[in-house]
Amino acid sequence: MEIKTIMVVGAGLMGGGIAQVAAQAGYNVIMNDVKMEFIDRGFNTIAGLLEKQVKKEKITKKDKETILSRIDKSVVFDAAQKADFVIEAAFENLEVKKGIFQQLDAICRENVVFASNTSSIPITTLAAATRRPDRFIGMHFFSPVPVMRLVEVIPGLKTSGQSVKTTEEIASKMGKETVRVKDVPGFLVNRCNAAFRAECFKCLLEGVASLEDIDKAIKLGLNHPMGPFELADFVGVEIGYSVFKTLYEGYKDPKFAPFLVLEKLVISGDLGRKTGKGWYDYTSGEKKPRTDITF
Ligand SMILES: NC(=O)c1ccc[n+]([C@@H]2O[C@H](COP(=O)([O-])OP(=O)(O)OC[C@H]3O[C@@H](n4cnc5c(N)ncnc54)[C@H](O)[C@@H]3O)[C@@H](O)[C@H]2O)c1
Repeated sequence: MEIKTIMVVGAGLMGGGIAQVAAQAGYNVIMNDVKMEFIDRGFNTIAGLLEKQVKKEKITKKDKETILSRIDKSVVFDAAQKADFVIEAAFENLEVKKGIFQQLDAICRENVVFASNTSSIPITTLAAATRRPDRFIGMHFFSPVPVMRLVEVIPGLKTSGQSVKTTEEIASKMGKETVRVKDVPGFLVNRCNAAFRAECFKCLLEGVASLEDIDKAIKLGLNHPMGPFELADFVGVEIGYSVFKTLYEGYKDPKFAPFLVLEKLVISGDLGRKTGKGWYDYTSGEKKPRTDITF
């Protein structure tokens, strides 16, 4: 089946980016979220990023209009009848994701493949909630989606070779490189990154250096574009937390035990840039160290 239309469920940080790269690759896109204002926000972000590309003369104004015209918006799942492929990027919550896929299972055509962008939920678990475990796969993008080149392709226990092939072709058309990864807790990149971040947390707790200096050291010493705490705020503190929880539950390895302060940030709703506070405070419009959390 030729893939023409991709439905992207969730129009947040990742869903917006995925919708953008899909539309730029020439696919028709259906952006879905629970409220039209969320879809509009995602759509406006895409329009703004494309406008920047116009200003840099990477694309023309006409290209921008064509890309945006490929995007439809819908708050109802009925629109999924038109989809040839679905990519889900809703909240990192098992029940939310299961609910979405069960509804879509009843609406989408039989040959449609479902892909989840989950950071930590086992693909086989999500697939088992549907009647199409052979047409279910993990398609793990990295943030910011238009910039980051990797997509982890994660087949579940029953995922067919054809579903893997279709997913890799779509990722490639989006300009991404893929790696095939087993459905293990944290997949590949998050598992390795969590081990690294856990060491950074330990250094913070031991007072080896300040939070800002750890970020600075990792950027300048290892040439990472962002330090571990800046990155956590950029990605969403709650996402890092669920990755640690999944890894800890999955491997029973104490190195992945979520740090108490991380849990406290999540419980207090300090999720990073998107809420104004995380490891840093952004409420003044600038990134500032926090003085109200103790380590
Ligand atoms: N942030 C990252 O760097 C990153 C990287 C890779 C994967 N992921 C994964 O991508 C997914 C989305 O993360 P995000 O950072 O974009 O989160 P986000 O909070 O920015 O966006 C999630 C969006 O999903 C929407 N949503 C929630 N329930 C929904 C439903 N039932 N139907 C439709 N839309 C619904 C929300 O309204 C929100 O707009 C998560 O599973 C996350 O683990 C995130």
